[in-house]
Amino acid sequence: MDRFYVTTPIYYVNDKPHIGTAYTTIVADMLARWRRTYDEDVRFLTGTDEFAQKTVDAAKKAGEETQAYADRMAAVWRSTWKKLGISNTDFIRTTEPRHIEVVQEIWRRVQAAGDIYKGQYQGLYCEGCEAFKNEDELVNGLCPDHKTKPEFVSEENYFFRLSNYQKRLLDFYDTQSDFVVPSYRLNEVKSFVAAGLEDISISRAKRSWGIPVPDDPGQVIYVWFDALVNYISAVGIEGWEAHPADVHVMAKDIIRFHAVIWPAMLMSAGLPLPGQIVAHGFLTMNGVKISKSLGNVINPLDITEKYGVDALRYFLLREIPFGEDGDFSEAKAGERYRSDLANGLGNFAARVLTLAEKEKELACALPSHEFEQRIAEMKRLVHEKMGEYKFSEALAAVWAAVAFGDRYMEEKKAWGIKDEAKRRLVLCNLTLLLEGVAEALVPFLPDAAAKIRQAIVREGEVLNVKKTEILFPRLKIPQLKK
Ligand code: MSP
Repeated sequence: MDRFYVTTPIYYVNDKPHIGTAYTTIVADMLARWRRTYDEDVRFLTGTDEFAQKTVDAAKKAGEETQAYADRMAAVWRSTWKKLGISNTDFIRTTEPRHIEVVQEIWRRVQAAGDIYKGQYQGLYCEGCEAFKNEDELVNGLCPDHKTKPEFVSEENYFFRLSNYQKRLLDFYDTQSDFVVPSYRLNEVKSFVAAGLEDISISRAKRSWGIPVPDDPGQVIYVWFDALVNYISAVGIEGWEAHPADVHVMAKDIIRFHAVIWPAMLMSAGLPLPGQIVAHGFLTMNGVKISKSLGNVINPLDITEKYGVDALRYFLLREIPFGEDGDFSEAKAGERYRSDLANGLGNFAARVLTLAEKEKELACALPSHEFEQRIAEMKRLVHEKMGEYKFSEALAAVWAAVAFGDRYMEEKKAWGIKDEAKRRLVLCNLTLLLEGVAEALVPFLPDAAAKIRQAIVREGEVLNVKKTEILFPRLKIPQLKK
């Protein structure tokens, strides 16, 4: 059985899940479900990144012990993904012993390779990014993502010889030209690396919240060095050697960590590299990135409680061309719900299933040639677009098939055909098309796809159809501002 290992970033616990982090997790979930349709053995990892300074700050603000605060917040992440129907097979927390042990082991391996040395660090640090910043990365002295002033840091700490890996990284990008998706992001990474790599600081002095540097308890390991290793910790070093992650899903903000530092760490530790870094754009609200630090967050549960989980997935995967930024508003999501789900798929499914149910049973050897071709073409297109990470186009191909079915139903006046043989042929065609649509939608709309598939019971060539409850009830939707 083929294996597929997909991950999300591990999320900071100073924040609750919002629609931006839900987007990443839904994309990873969709890929996991897609691979399961090919009977692959899917490992799907998500989790929480807890050893950040912002965890300490947030705990203090909440008046809680840091660990107790992290425990409470990790539970919020876990339960939110559960409520969103996310099919992760593991959930890792960086405060777990299984992770801490592996991080220290990787540190030792990198050290044994001669890639760690002690030095004096002086520079700027943005706590929002948990990253050191150069002056030229700032806008008016502020971090462009967090709109905060980085602090000046001067301390002795450990460095990783990232500069050693420039050539090896560039060679690697050349041999694996689809390492970063979309491909223009790989070009950005290449030019960044080609411009020269500096060694990076990988520890912080005088901190108590973090994983201790092996043999030097005065220092803790830099949160990104720690966090990236989570992908190994969840499967163990041997597990990673046998099958490293196939796909790391994330937004564009953390590509450099994953496409530059992470492969260099793995090369240094003598471990295999992941297959692909797959990055989407930012979700914005009125053009501004959605984030806690900017205070414009939307809770995904507010959307799913009203419209359902499938509707949120559909909006994110259909409306936003993968890789680009996309603006979220309830009005826009509601409009997609009304037109594509309630009036589109939901209405088509209800009409087909209602008519087919009346037939008691339908003997359908095959759909007519035209339908057979149409269904095959839809499946081919979905497969092709999924392979290219063009999820929106994959969904468009399914909706084109629904539109084709709708037109056919109208043309044939499927509801009033007196001749039994003719009527049954038309209903076989429509039911088999709907069945194909539901199969294609399994990764995207798991609830609706399951309901449709349950409604069509097959015994060999005979279909027994029982109509479902309404898939997407009509709802009051906020008006789109023109
Ligand atoms: N803890 C690090 C990741 C370590 S992975 C080894 C981190 N965490 S985070 O909580 O800030 O999450 C960042 C990720 O959340 C982004 O890469 C992206 O996947 C997702 N998003 C956060 N805000 C988002 C938007 N507004 N839009 C889209 N995705 C967003 O960075």
